[in-house]
Amino acid sequence: MSIIKKIKDYYKSNKSLLFTTPTHSQGSFIIPDAQDILGSQYFKSDFSEIDGFDNLRAPQDTIKAVLEQISQIYHSKYSFMLTNGSTSGILAAMLSVLKNNDKVLIARNCHISVYNGLVLTGARPLWFLPDADEQWGIYKGITAKDIEKYFESENDIKAVIITSPTYEGIFSDIKNISEICKKNNAILIVDEAHGALLNFADLGSKPAILSGADISIQSLHKTAGAINPAALMHIADSSPVKPESVQNALNLINTTSPSYPLMADIEATVKYLNSSAGKEYITNLLQQIEIFKTCLSQNISCYSENNDKTKLLLRFNGCNALDIAEILNTKYNIEEEYSTQKALLFITGIGTTPEKLKKLSEALFNISDENFESHADCTNPLNLTLPVMKYTPGAAYQLDSKIIDKDSAQGCICAECIMKYPPGIPLLLPGELIQNSHLCCIEKSTVRVI
Ligand SMILES: Cc1ncc(COP(=O)(O)O)c(C=O)c1O
Repeated sequence: MSIIKKIKDYYKSNKSLLFTTPTHSQGSFIIPDAQDILGSQYFKSDFSEIDGFDNLRAPQDTIKAVLEQISQIYHSKYSFMLTNGSTSGILAAMLSVLKNNDKVLIARNCHISVYNGLVLTGARPLWFLPDADEQWGIYKGITAKDIEKYFESENDIKAVIITSPTYEGIFSDIKNISEICKKNNAILIVDEAHGALLNFADLGSKPAILSGADISIQSLHKTAGAINPAALMHIADSSPVKPESVQNALNLINTTSPSYPLMADIEATVKYLNSSAGKEYITNLLQQIEIFKTCLSQNISCYSENNDKTKLLLRFNGCNALDIAEILNTKYNIEEEYSTQKALLFITGIGTTPEKLKKLSEALFNISDENFESHADCTNPLNLTLPVMKYTPGAAYQLDSKIIDKDSAQGCICAECIMKYPPGIPLLLPGELIQNSHLCCIEKSTVRVI
């Protein structure tokens, strides 16, 4: 059974007269501007849970069968299609595992959805900062040793949340971390949003649930060719996490009108990636990326330590990477994913054709040949220390707050998430003490405090 086939069969069948939502009625009327950008095909596939189309909130039929196929492909106990991105998977994973005041060990370089999960669950974060690679301005992978000490000094840690690979592609040691978690009865949740291709080629690490994680969440829309915000969540075969409790959590936060075009796209993407054509395509992509890396000029380095092969994190020796980004944007019309003073990140994936790589390669080659003024910047983009937490994010969210001048904020308790992007890691979260060292890093003139 297949959602794609169900939709196609519906076109061919003696269609029912639908008096249901959505009332564009499979494109019987399309708002003209929407038609211009989306075409009519999208509307033809856009249904609600009509007869025979199953229900994502309680799959029994077609969706259930597709989920079983996905689960087989990913070797999971159970897999979920996420029509609201990895964000919804991270929230649901946290809601299913954590309760108010439960202790959860989290690396501070996690995605904003993890902070939001703390607000929703009321859980108590035990923050830690992974080691930094200051030359590249990124956090390194997390090792078993990094987390072991927390289990020695704190009892009853309910869960550990780790991002692997990170935005920049850095892998953590999931295998050994998972052993410590198992020994201490803690659930290991891995945000694998950037690792949706891991199951289909050797990108430098095994998928998290096959290395011992309990739950992993992958954005198919980031590197795997699906549309925004298609994603998957998997529960490992040996995990004690119950699929029913994750489903309940998803039902708590998700729309009651999931997108059928998106579900069909998830099904199509997974089936393609798992086909021999898909695997060959990814292998070919990896070869093209390797060629790109070997052709880089001598004064450009590409990060290659324990990281995802599809990520291109580049440094121009002796230059400020922000200057390079500016030249790429203005002169070559090329936009990077993000840049700091230290390095530029280019994300590649299913749509990264050899032609695209060639254009980037030529632009970088020309820039490295150009004579322009740029000096390496010694500023450390990861200039962070862990703040003092006065309230958990969940407790802080419940309290009244007011806006005050930044100049009088020292000693107050922050009521907002203050982060500098890139790299997007919070300087302060709701409930944390504002100290003198924070004030010089806050660029705006006011701060919301409790
Ligand atoms: C590390 C990480 N986790 C989770 C997410 C959320 O993913 P999604 O956009 O699929 O909700 C992102 C998005 O940028 C991310 O970078």
